[in-house]
Amino acid sequence: MSAVDKQNALRQAAQMRIKASHALKGDANLLAQHYFEWADSYELDMDRERYSGPSIVAEMAGALQAAYIGGDRAATAVLDAGCGTGLVGVQLDHIGFRFIVGFDLSETMAEMARQTGVYRHVEGEIDLNRSLSEYASASYDMIVCCGVFTLGHVHPDGLRELSRLTRPNGFVIASTCKSYTQAMSFEDEVLRLQEASVLAPAQCLNDGRFLDGEDAHYWALRVLEKSTKQRR
Ligand SMILES: C[S@@+](CC[C@H](N)C(=O)[O-])C[C@H]1O[C@@H](n2cnc3c(N)ncnc32)[C@H](O)[C@@H]1O
Repeated sequence: MSAVDKQNALRQAAQMRIKASHALKGDANLLAQHYFEWADSYELDMDRERYSGPSIVAEMAGALQAAYIGGDRAATAVLDAGCGTGLVGVQLDHIGFRFIVGFDLSETMAEMARQTGVYRHVEGEIDLNRSLSEYASASYDMIVCCGVFTLGHVHPDGLRELSRLTRPNGFVIASTCKSYTQAMSFEDEVLRLQEASVLAPAQCLNDGRFLDGEDAHYWALRVLEKSTKQRR
């Protein structure tokens, strides 16, 4: 097999694993099993050349921190929700964030994120489709979610709990790839939360590069003061 054929075969296998993850309908057990099996080859499949999501999300976090949050970047509390193996955390660390916490459903992926050494703390077995009531409101300046509001993974409803964990005037930054935007009602959920004075869209990068041929929207959602008081 030539090097090109080998490369194409690897890409096809990666594409199949990605597609398979999209068919899991948010079932926590199936997702955990899928990522348990994928963890070892995940970073090979999602190499930086193909997967722009983590660096774009981290750059957005950096820009929002500089423009609106200010203070010491190293002390800005960031939750990487659905941190996977830590690709976003590594990019955040690269631009000076030092207070990074990770959550993930898969303990196997969470352990790989721990191994990067850039997180203060990483928790596995956290399901973002469920209530996070054991976690205090307004704990983070920013929450980043890359590749998490994705088909078969986390439902747009999950945004409400993430907003609650973010402090007033902090941000939830989320990628939503094209297939998800078309199939799910993420934008409707943003509008619902805006009407309920929970959050307001601050920026959106439409149709940015995400993974190979698939583009994504990158949302920066500002959490409003009122919501946190109401929900504490
Ligand atoms: C496509 S990966 C993205 C990982 C990382 N953010 C990145 O950009 O490389 C999706 C991650 O979301 C996690 N995940 C899937 N469903 C989840 C859920 N309901 N709650 C928390 N994490 C979930 C998976 O375990 C996996 O690590």
